[in-house]
Amino acid sequence: MLKISVINGPNLNMLGDREVGYYGAVSLEDINAQLRMAAKEEGIEIDFYQSNSEGELVTFIQTCKGVTDGIIINPGAYTHTSIAIRDALLAVEIPFVEVHLSNVYAREEFRKSSYLSDKAVGVITGFGSFGYIFALEGIRQRLNPPATALC
Ligand code: DQA
Repeated sequence: MLKISVINGPNLNMLGDREVGYYGAVSLEDINAQLRMAAKEEGIEIDFYQSNSEGELVTFIQTCKGVTDGIIINPGAYTHTSIAIRDALLAVEIPFVEVHLSNVYAREEFRKSSYLSDKAVGVITGFGSFGYIFALEGIRQRLNPPATALC
């Protein structure tokens, strides 16, 4: 059975309550519940991790090696700063999708650069909580393509 880990970085535990204009009114618990339902329908095993600390995120990514087939990650502000998270993702050699709720290209200049995007299977930005569902579908297709895949 395919196993996917969903990782969220700093301040994403405050979703639903935080800059609702950018990030929407849906809580992280609700997003994870939707993902759990979608994963169940697809026969995918899924787990969730959130931390506000860069080191804890790195340590969790390291524990994914040999255990998880794919990662969905919203690194929050660490997207724009963290070589350590980039290196951890490269070290474990697990394909990952980068997700952002807001459209990072329609905001401040510093949000337009990512330490992860060039190594990601794909990047989803600007679709709010739906982005995580799209990411789940995208990584599933990549890891387990149907015989009649269009791409
Ligand atoms: C974010 C975008 C980041 O720039 C920001 O620091 C976040 C959330 C998003 O989901 O849109 O914390 O990753």
